[in-house]
Amino acid sequence: MSGYEPCLGEVVLTLLIGGTIARPIYRRYINTLDLASGDCVLDYGSGSGVCSKFLARRLQNIDGHLTCLDVSRRWQTVIQKMLNRYSNVDYLIGDIVVLAIPASSFDALLSHFVIHDIPATERMEIVREWARMLKPGGKVFLREPVSGSEGIALDELGGLMRQNGFVEAASCIVPLPLMGDTFEGTFLKAFN
Ligand SMILES: C[S@@+](CC[C@H](N)C(=O)[O-])C[C@H]1O[C@@H](n2cnc3c(N)ncnc32)[C@H](O)[C@@H]1O
Repeated sequence: MSGYEPCLGEVVLTLLIGGTIARPIYRRYINTLDLASGDCVLDYGSGSGVCSKFLARRLQNIDGHLTCLDVSRRWQTVIQKMLNRYSNVDYLIGDIVVLAIPASSFDALLSHFVIHDIPATERMEIVREWARMLKPGGKVFLREPVSGSEGIALDELGGLMRQNGFVEAASCIVPLPLMGDTFEGTFLKAFN
């Protein structure tokens, strides 16, 4: 498992950027996600909660539930304080592969700038776990940088999803401040 704890400076800087210039970008994106009444959503690699706070609010308005999962205990402590006004949120700390989350637990999963951060050798097992935890017809909302040294190759991303039974429903490349060209896609888990 890839484990990493941010230092205090990284926490402060990330919260500053996420709460100011990046805030409208994340809010706009979360508001575009195709969510339905009562949906249970996993924010995989929730980190500083830049997306979680908008997801929590959207889901609260439609009787939905949010689970924030991250390997970092420090980030989870930060977002539990940030989201403490929401009663529709719970938290998991650890590696998705060893947490033994029951199959078909979620209607949708958001992975926002996470997969590129995970060692290439661990990615396939993680996406396989997504497929197991989602209900048939469940959705993956995926955003990943595809340019620069931090980016993940589009071919690899598509392969990871296809080989685990996901079908692409929509995708585009958007230029985002600080992140550069970014893949934005929705994938569906097959019903069979
Ligand atoms: C670049 S941050 C993205 C955080 C957030 N989704 C965002 O968009 O700001 C990647 C996050 O993934 C988490 N992470 C890395 N490996 C993980 C794993 N194996 N399981 C769960 N979370 C992981 C890190 O702790 C970090 O918070």
